[in-house]
Amino acid sequence: MNSEEALSLVYKLFSTKYEMPLTPLEQEIFRQSWEGKEYKDMKIAGYSSAYVKTNIAPELWKKISKILGVTVGKKNLQVVLHNLPRERLSTKLETPSELGSVDSKSVQNWQNMSDLEIFGRGEELATLQKWILQDECRLVVISGMGGIGKTTLTGNVLKHLVSLQEARFANIIWLSLENAPTLESILTEILDLLSPQQHLVPSIENLLDKLRSHRYLIIFDAVENIFAKDSLAGKYRQGYEPYSNLFKQISTFQHQSCLLLTTIEIPREISFLVGNNSPVRLLQLQGLAIQPAKQIFRNRGLTEEEDWKKLINLYRGNPLALKIVATMILEIFNGKSSDFLAENTIFIGQIADILDRDFARLFYLEIQLLYCLANIKAPVKFAQLCGYFEQNISKSQVIAVLESLVMRSLIEKNLENGEFLFSLQPVIQKYVQNYYTK
Ligand SMILES: Nc1ncnc2c1ncn2[C@@H]1O[C@H](COP(=O)(O)OP(=O)(O)O)[C@@H](O)[C@H]1O
Ligand SMILES: [Mg+2]
Repeated sequence: MNSEEALSLVYKLFSTKYEMPLTPLEQEIFRQSWEGKEYKDMKIAGYSSAYVKTNIAPELWKKISKILGVTVGKKNLQVVLHNLPRERLSTKLETPSELGSVDSKSVQNWQNMSDLEIFGRGEELATLQKWILQDECRLVVISGMGGIGKTTLTGNVLKHLVSLQEARFANIIWLSLENAPTLESILTEILDLLSPQQHLVPSIENLLDKLRSHRYLIIFDAVENIFAKDSLAGKYRQGYEPYSNLFKQISTFQHQSCLLLTTIEIPREISFLVGNNSPVRLLQLQGLAIQPAKQIFRNRGLTEEEDWKKLINLYRGNPLALKIVATMILEIFNGKSSDFLAENTIFIGQIADILDRDFARLFYLEIQLLYCLANIKAPVKFAQLCGYFEQNISKSQVIAVLESLVMRSLIEKNLENGEFLFSLQPVIQKYVQNYYTK
């Protein structure tokens, strides 16, 4: 394997999660490290070897270690990549088939996830802890757009819960729905884990029996993958409708366990079950608050803190977007936020990758409505929006489309004199203009 092949292997591993790919600078460090160069011998235009060694390389190794699940550095890079277990590679690299792959395992080692670095989110952690422990909720859903921090928060919830005395779970199981496994294969995996000898039929009833007998915490991460593309939010992909029964039965039947979902979109029947006194709760995750968001910039080594608030608001505190922007400001503006802000532009760069995924799921009317809002360029009331949205469709259809977009966090609403005004956040505005206005 030469350095390019190694790099492309790492890239494939990255792209199966919503992870930030390597920057051009990181790629170069990777290549030269692969070739066995010492930092002092690395030739990277515009960067001193000391800067590369202390500021850039550690973050690079951290990223790669996280994705591989083992600690990787310059010295063991070759050894680790050459010895990556074959089965791990094949499941990671496989493209999901029409009905998911029965062979690929969805169970993940959640201990790895609970190491995810987190800033802020104290309130969300407390809320989730209360819902899971005190209120004994049976179904907890964390929703929000890609990159907002659902997986990170969930990993940290687990880390927090296991540190508590009162949280005695017989087992915690983390399943990634990234490859869209069928309900049958998910049930098989869970039941095999919970009672390896019994070879139970993979039925919802058998799972509920287990959930009654002991207290389990089960996580389904990236649930959006079981929902259909090209339709309004929360419609199941063909063949995945049985999940609806699972969610309904887990919510309504008596048992002592909890199923926690992270997802970009949620199905109708779940949103109907949500309530303050119900065993089903929904946390719609928003961007980071200013202080924790600043922590991301501080960690990356940005300067001129007085400008950060503006920058954070521009990207609505989306941690992945902030990381991408911070990296760009370091590389292009030498870390000076004011120089970037002075350009008066909205940088999208790799944020487009997250949005590409979110947009690939949209129904065509949703795209048209976003396009319409992008052209209006100002917040509008529902009635005004209907006026602009010149489609041969009824008002109730417009409502359904709008509601779906709000659920996906792709439209913002702000109250003015008791009425909602709908608009696009700057990044989405720019993305729609770039990619859909021709
Ligand atoms: N609270 C946080 N503090 C610091 N970084 C965060 C936080 N939340 C998310 N991130 C970072 O943002 C990126 C996206 O987070 P992730 O949890 O994968 O989002 P999602 O699951 O919603 O798509 C990751 O690189 C993660 O490390
Ligand atoms: Mg995630």
